[in-house]
Amino acid sequence: ATTAATAAPAAQAGAPIVVGHVTSLTGDTATFGESSNNGVKLAIDEANAAGGVQGRKLALQVYDTAGKPEETATAATRAITEAKASVVIGELGSSRTLALAPIADTNKVPAITPASTNPKITKDGDKTRPYMFRVCFIDPFQGTVMAKFARQNLKVAKAAIVRDVGNDYSVGLADYFAKTFKELGGEIVVDVSYKSGDQDFKAQLTKVKFAKPDFVYVPGYYTDVALIGRQAHELGLKAQLAGGDGWDSSKLYEIAQGALDGGFFTNHYSADNPSPVVQGFAKKYEAAYHSKPDAFAALGYDAALLAIDAMKRASALTPDAIRDAIEKTSGLSGVTGTIRLDADHNPVKSAVIIGVEKNAPKYVTTVEP
Ligand code: PHE
Repeated sequence: ATTAATAAPAAQAGAPIVVGHVTSLTGDTATFGESSNNGVKLAIDEANAAGGVQGRKLALQVYDTAGKPEETATAATRAITEAKASVVIGELGSSRTLALAPIADTNKVPAITPASTNPKITKDGDKTRPYMFRVCFIDPFQGTVMAKFARQNLKVAKAAIVRDVGNDYSVGLADYFAKTFKELGGEIVVDVSYKSGDQDFKAQLTKVKFAKPDFVYVPGYYTDVALIGRQAHELGLKAQLAGGDGWDSSKLYEIAQGALDGGFFTNHYSADNPSPVVQGFAKKYEAAYHSKPDAFAALGYDAALLAIDAMKRASALTPDAIRDAIEKTSGLSGVTGTIRLDADHNPVKSAVIIGVEKNAPKYVTTVEP
């Protein structure tokens, strides 16, 4: 009798182990995909220079998602079925990683998202995702960090919210911020919506201005946020703007041209952090790519590091054994902090707060979980 084929074929002994990177090399968040890919590549090159894992080299295969959920699903399927990836890294945006997670589970190949912070990616209600992992904190934490900073450090009483209703990340983060802000005695005076790609935010911002908030929470992606900042400025809206890790791009400053000065955002990493791990990484990264690593570069590097560390410990170089080893990760020293995965596959990690001063990011503080 013939035996049934197993779900995921084990890579041939001696052949390189394929790491699939599913990321946005084109589209609205192309700069993030490029940073992440640089980080992933750096970690893989280092592992190969040190002899690979268990005597085998690593081969990186990159698939573009164009920053879209449907194309992410296709890219992930191709990485697994065509390239026979033993582990997948990706995507960055939460709405896209929500499309990738079921593919990892169905094909029984572990996947690690560098930057997607929406909680549903690893655990959606009662449904767990056995093959999905991440190296970033999640939004209930990120939203709480900013709500506390606003109430306790900035003494904000009245906040407004401007959310991207087409983005799971933005909607989740807006809700988590609002919940904690209200629990701490603050008031949400108005909550308005837009859709990514909109160009004119004046109607929503006029509403916000009338509600007289001291602080406007805009948990969106950098291109939209920068336009919102400029239009708020043009309308004479004086309130401070704040957001999350979706702000972290040099493009934010290019487009905002100073309109976000005085604002703050939460992030995974700051290049100003004097720690030897961060500075050592920045030096290697700059030598390889002639640019400063942003948070997505650092997270891409850490996602690859998690995969490599697990492959070194795995009982065999099969997707299932690698999955089991990833699950047991604890105390892995990454560029964005020490990574210990909890029972839901989320790391317990600190966040940093970045201020915008003179149209540039400035490290303010680190917040422990
Ligand atoms: N945490 C963000 C998210 O989950 C990361 C991100 C920001 C990705 C901006 C792409 C663009 O969506």
